[in-house]
Amino acid sequence: MNRHLDSTAANILSGGTSKSHDIEGGMISKAPICAEETVAGIPDISQELREKIRSRKAKVGIVGLGYVGLPLAVEFARQGFQVTGIDLEPQKIEQINSGKSYIGDVPSEEVARWVEQGLLCASSDFNVLAELDTINICVPTPLRKTKDPDLSYILAAVEQIQKNLHPGMLVILESTTYPGTTEELILPRLAETGLEVGRDFFLCFSPERVDPGNSQFNTRNIAKVVGGVTPTCTELGTLFYQQAMEKVVPVSSTQVAEMVKLLENTFRSINIGLANEMALLCDCMEIDVWEVIEAAATKPFGFMPFYPGPGLGGHCIPVDPFYLSWKAKMNGVEARFIELAGQINGAMPHFTVNKIQAVLNDRMKSVKNSQVHLLGMAYKKDIADVRESPALDVLALLRKLGARLSYSDPHVPRVKLADFELESQPVLPSCREADCVVLLTDHSSFDYEAIVNQSSLIVDTRNAFRAWRMEKIIRL
Ligand SMILES: NC(=O)c1ccc[n+]([C@@H]2O[C@H](COP(=O)([O-])OP(=O)(O)OC[C@H]3O[C@@H](n4cnc5c(N)ncnc54)[C@H](O)[C@@H]3O)[C@@H](O)[C@H]2O)c1
Repeated sequence: MNRHLDSTAANILSGGTSKSHDIEGGMISKAPICAEETVAGIPDISQELREKIRSRKAKVGIVGLGYVGLPLAVEFARQGFQVTGIDLEPQKIEQINSGKSYIGDVPSEEVARWVEQGLLCASSDFNVLAELDTINICVPTPLRKTKDPDLSYILAAVEQIQKNLHPGMLVILESTTYPGTTEELILPRLAETGLEVGRDFFLCFSPERVDPGNSQFNTRNIAKVVGGVTPTCTELGTLFYQQAMEKVVPVSSTQVAEMVKLLENTFRSINIGLANEMALLCDCMEIDVWEVIEAAATKPFGFMPFYPGPGLGGHCIPVDPFYLSWKAKMNGVEARFIELAGQINGAMPHFTVNKIQAVLNDRMKSVKNSQVHLLGMAYKKDIADVRESPALDVLALLRKLGARLSYSDPHVPRVKLADFELESQPVLPSCREADCVVLLTDHSSFDYEAIVNQSSLIVDTRNAFRAWRMEKIIRL
């Protein structure tokens, strides 16, 4: 079944300039390989798996033990499943097997407890897959330099799963990707084994929604969306997650599940883009954008506050929408909101540096040779993740302009750019010595009062100094 956009819808989406082309591989098509019904005489392998899951005897495997995979592995171990984590990095394997965590949200004591009880172990040997009943794929899905999806990590993991696929196995992709990946890329490879999806093995997509550093919502209490290739796949995927998650939301297909995640992250990217555009407009009109947003947020319906900042960071929001726009292009449609938000958000580090340049200029100083101290390198508060962090862009841009640079981040001891490295410095002496302090990540542990007292000039990109109204504090 090919699902085509009708030409009117395609025209509206592409601004009336594009035709709805059939690009090879670009359309979502249901794979023909599907055998739901139990054939008389052949044992129903799904029933066996169902019972293993219910009795918690199913052996769970997690491929990729990063920000997503490790919390998931720990959650299933906590529920009494025997969990094997598989990763390529020997350091991670060693750390887990010796009871240590390397992810902020997962305490080492917990890893140690499950390892000691024999419920959690890690390995880099993919042959262990042959012993497992369920496999969750949690490997990275970055973008190539051209902003095209890089699915090489998924394909490498699937190649190993294919070698070890056996009847009664449930495979679930959790990595964020474009709609169609599960059925266009993974299903044909697994079906090459001669096993049939929906009868011999089961395949689902379930987006991961974990928010590192969020103390309220975690792997367990964030609702889990799951869509399978066949109804039995969905049902088994749902049953699997129900053992460890408070709420599971089954949807009708893998494509719907894939699109859910992209809608969520695109929604954030676009709304942050709007907040950033508002910041640029307010800057020209000398209006305090933060006050505008706070006042607008008092509306009890129809408005949700998003905030400007030095740019987007992390492994998801700056990356995922481009998976969708790539897929849209393959379907002859232009995702204009996504591209526009990407442009605005991508320009924010430049805007931040222009602001620093302007405030120094007002004080008869040039960026060149000024001491600029950056507070925060992580892409968001209270975590150690610097992937895609806009702070790194600000750092690189200031360096190009000849600033003398230092930074403080309690979570990030060292940063490395292409041609230089910096170590985190103690906050206060650095603020005192700086011509300009720039707040880039509003970590809770910063002593904001002391920073205000010790600094001669602050550029605040997060409204972290909202409690102080002083000339020396310049808000984005
Ligand atoms: N970090 C988040 O907040 C978050 C939230 C929701 C969804 N996601 C998505 O989840 C996926 C994983 O993200 P992450 O942040 O956990 O990444 P990560 O880089 O923290 O972890 C991925 C792990 O996979 C391992 N790996 C890579 N290739 C492998 C292979 N072939 N076999 C086994 N292991 C392999 C890496 O060594 C690494 O340990 C991505 O698609 C991401 O977009 C991430």
